[in-house]
Amino acid sequence: MGRLIEVLKESRVNGRAVGQFNFSTLDQFQGIVKAAKELNAPVICGTSGGEADFFGIKEAVSMARIARERENINLFLNFDHGKDVDLLKKAVDEGYDMIHFDGSDFPFEKNIELTKEIVGYAKERGVVVEGEVSKIGGKSTVSDEKMEEVTLTSVEKVAKFVKDTGIDCIAFDVGSVHGVYKDSPKIFPERVDELLNIISCLVVLHGGSGVSESDIKTLIERGVVKINVNTELRLAWKEAIGDAFEENPKEITPYKILPLSRDAVCDTVKNKINIFNFAQKRV
Ligand code: 13P
Repeated sequence: MGRLIEVLKESRVNGRAVGQFNFSTLDQFQGIVKAAKELNAPVICGTSGGEADFFGIKEAVSMARIARERENINLFLNFDHGKDVDLLKKAVDEGYDMIHFDGSDFPFEKNIELTKEIVGYAKERGVVVEGEVSKIGGKSTVSDEKMEEVTLTSVEKVAKFVKDTGIDCIAFDVGSVHGVYKDSPKIFPERVDELLNIISCLVVLHGGSGVSESDIKTLIERGVVKINVNTELRLAWKEAIGDAFEENPKEITPYKILPLSRDAVCDTVKNKINIFNFAQKRV
């Protein structure tokens, strides 16, 4: 299996982005694995604090190992938006390939201090670190309200944060928030150029759901190498299960229902991988 940091760096050179797809159930995970296998693409499986708490850190690591070995795919595991340094250290110890420390709720200097601590710990163990200084708002749910107003952090402040902490990847605010809303986000791709003109780093897009295909492609051209998607997967999962029970109200056998949600997640992931320019032929 390729090393994640190399896969991300090569993505930049090749004008692609690796998708991070979040999961909290086995059928969602199976859908991501199936998509990665069918398109021969690297994937990052993400678990937020809540998702990891439900699925289990050890369980996620074991499932990732089994999937990689059996399917011969580049599958990585990221702890998404971790806010607790000790919990992230545990994820490192258990075998996550990447951790995202989200210290954006802390004052700037405290965020730097904690992020540096986690960088020191993770790097010694070969684990990739993503940091966050600009709070990326919203929640991975569907809302019929308009998107909350986005305040963008100054690019200079983000660059200073990257430099002072030594992180590999930065969760960068370019206008999107987590979740799908009544309106689409206004994206500011030029911010990626502005940041990369000041400092070299791997740029991550959060709130990938609901961002238009053309905005995604522009962001990748500018240098985004990792794109996080959650809400659209949750939605596909819910709709598939809802439809299945509507059509077969008497069905109670999980293994007859859950292949439908697995496949709905798989299709959504495949669509994203294609947009992210990462569908590859097996050689
Ligand atoms: P969405 O739920 O908007 O896809 O965002 C996911 C995300 O950024 C996870 O960190």
